[in-house]
Amino acid sequence: MTKIIEILTKKEFERQDLISLLKASRDEAKPIFERAYQVKKDCVGTKVYYRGLIEFSNICSKDCLYCGIRLSNKNTNRYEIDEANILGAAEFAYKHRYASVVLQSGERTDKVFIDKVDYLLKEIKKLSDGKLGITISLGEQTEKVYRRWFDSGAHRYLLRIESTNKELYEKIHPNNSKHSYEERLNCLHLLRKIGYQVGTGVMVGLPFQTYENLADDLIFFKTFDIDMCGMGPFIEHAETPLYQYKDQLASQKDRLFDTFKMIAILRIMMPDINIAAATALQAIDPMGREKALKVGANIIMPNITPTLHRKNYQLYQNKPCIDEGADDCTSCLEARIVLAGDKVGYGEWGDSFHYQKRTTKD
Ligand code: 5AD
Ligand code: FES
Repeated sequence: MTKIIEILTKKEFERQDLISLLKASRDEAKPIFERAYQVKKDCVGTKVYYRGLIEFSNICSKDCLYCGIRLSNKNTNRYEIDEANILGAAEFAYKHRYASVVLQSGERTDKVFIDKVDYLLKEIKKLSDGKLGITISLGEQTEKVYRRWFDSGAHRYLLRIESTNKELYEKIHPNNSKHSYEERLNCLHLLRKIGYQVGTGVMVGLPFQTYENLADDLIFFKTFDIDMCGMGPFIEHAETPLYQYKDQLASQKDRLFDTFKMIAILRIMMPDINIAAATALQAIDPMGREKALKVGANIIMPNITPTLHRKNYQLYQNKPCIDEGADDCTSCLEARIVLAGDKVGYGEWGDSFHYQKRTTKD
C-alpha cells in the first residue's frame, strides 16, 4: 500500500510505476480512484457530457477476431438504417439537448457508404442549425475521405488502437493487409493532421494481454497526445475466433476492475482529456458506467439507435438496454448520474479541454 501512495506523489509516472499501479489490489486501488476523481473535479469538473450513439449499420467488411459483427459471422442479421430514421435519431438527440451525436457502424469504404455518411453529416448540421456536435467512429478510411467528412461537419473521430502492442494487435486481428497495425496508426496521425479531436482506446482483458502491455498503452496515449479516450473490458463473443481462449481470461469482474484502473491512471496522467464510460462496462455491471464516472470518466454515450435494430449491433454479448427505447434511457440515465454525484451537461458540447488548449497553442 505504501508503495502505491508513494507512486501517487510523483509528478510523472515511469513505466514501472504504471505497472505497479495497474497491479494494485482492490484495497490498494482505493487511493488511485480517489485521486483520479479529485483530478477530474479539479480539471474537467463533474459535468457529464452526452454523445447520443447511433449504430446505423452492422454491415462490416473486416474480420476482427474479437468482434461479433465481423464479416465471417454468418449468424447475425445485417441491417442498415435508412437516412430518415438516422436523422430522426439525431433529431431526438437535439430535442433532448444531448448536444452531440456519434455515428458508428461497421467498417466500409465503398462510395455508397462514403456518400451516405457525407449526406448525413450535412443534414444533421442543417436540422440542428449547426448546433449538434458530431463525432464519427467509422474505422480506417483514406485521407481524402477523412477530410471530406471533416469538411461536412464531423469534428471528432473515435478510432481505437485496440492494443498498442503490435504483436498483440496481430493476435487479435487476421493476418492480412486489411488488418494492419501500421495502417491503424497511420489513420490516427491523419485524423490529427486534418484537425479532428482524436479519440482512441484499447480493450482491457484481451487474451494474451499483460499489465506491461496496458502500461505501454497508457504511455502511447500520453505520447500521441490524444484528446479523448474510450476503454472497455474485452467481452468474449461465442461467434468469434477469440472465444476459444475464454478459459484463459481473467474473470469479467477483474477485467472490469482493470478497466477502472486504466481509466483512473489515465485521468491522473492526462487531466484535461475527455474519457468515456464505455457501454461495455455496463454489460458486466449494471452500474459499470456510473462507477467509471467515479474514477475519472466524464463522457457517456447513451444509445439512441432505433430499438428495432439494437439487438443486431452486438459487438459483444450481453449488451445492455437493447430492448429499451431512447426515451427510457434518458430518464433512467440522468437519475443514475446524479446518484453517482455528477450532473449532466445538457446542451453543451463538452469538447476536450485538451484539444482546446493544444489548438489555441499551435
Ligand atoms: N468486447 C469488448 N469490446 C469490443 N469491441 C469490439 N468487440 C468487442 C468485444 N468482443 C470494441 C472495439 C471497437 C469498439 C467499437 O468496440 O474496441 O473499437
Ligand atoms: Fe468490423 Fe473489426 S470486425 S471493424
